[in-house]
Amino acid sequence: MEIRIAENCGFCYGVKRAVAMAQKTAENDFTSYTLGPIIHNPQVVQSLADDGVRAVNSLEEIPDGQVIIRSHGVGPAIYKEAKDKGLDVVDATCPHVKKAQQDAKSVVDDNMTLVILGEKKHPEVISINLWAGNKGIIVESEKDAEIIPFVENMGVVVQTTFSQFKFQSIIGILEKKTKNLKVFKTICTATQERQNSAVELAKEVNLMIVIGGKNSGNTNRLAEVCRDVGCTTYHIETAAELEVAWFQGVQTVGVTAGASTPDWIIKEVIETMNEFEELLTAQANWDEDLKKGSVVEGTVAQVEDER
Ligand code: F3S
Repeated sequence: MEIRIAENCGFCYGVKRAVAMAQKTAENDFTSYTLGPIIHNPQVVQSLADDGVRAVNSLEEIPDGQVIIRSHGVGPAIYKEAKDKGLDVVDATCPHVKKAQQDAKSVVDDNMTLVILGEKKHPEVISINLWAGNKGIIVESEKDAEIIPFVENMGVVVQTTFSQFKFQSIIGILEKKTKNLKVFKTICTATQERQNSAVELAKEVNLMIVIGGKNSGNTNRLAEVCRDVGCTTYHIETAAELEVAWFQGVQTVGVTAGASTPDWIIKEVIETMNEFEELLTAQANWDEDLKKGSVVEGTVAQVEDER
């Protein structure tokens, strides 16, 4: 079984930066907190918690010290609230997300109708919309785009991890919904590179393994684009979820990982797949020997040796 790894996969610039900023806060004497999990990867969040960086759900849970704003960003009210509470703010919002927040604000400031392409409940989309006074229409799918009424002027901002393939098809629909369409293609480079590599690989292998948090938008999207090209795809968080039966009779396996998946998890998955391969090869040899009848002889000889 050949294991091939996508050319671009794993930690992106924004995630590396956010995790490094969080790790740095663990070095000083302040207590530090992240508002929500710093990235959508439970294993990384746990490892930071072990170093003393706690994830909380609201500012109310933070008595004092430092608050780290995660890579998905937050709305403007949180900065004010944190300042009023006297908290030290460490802003790990990814610069690509910041750009999308500013673009959304500029659309509303220009009195255009704002459309945000993205997942309605994703924290990044919520933060982008908050910077635009919550005036955006969130569009997740072609179906959502179809029901938007005709408007004079429309500005579109995109969740940084949105599928670029879905983006193209939704823009095609929105073009017919306005006289004046301004598109800010805020899908980040890391996302595009990871999706392109995943699609290329998925076209060439029998099976794709996508590694990353089940709550990670960009990892879910990687699994989605692999399935869209017709490749059998499993989305796992860790090596413990792999099943040997998935690899029975498979010749080539592709591996990719979301932007919030650390290298050590990718390594563990590959090691486990290599162990599975050894197991399957041993099984195949055993079956072959069984057919020839040599296993029985071998087993008897072995038992006798042991006596
Ligand atoms: Fe930033 Fe893109 Fe990563 S938005 S956090 S570089 S996936």
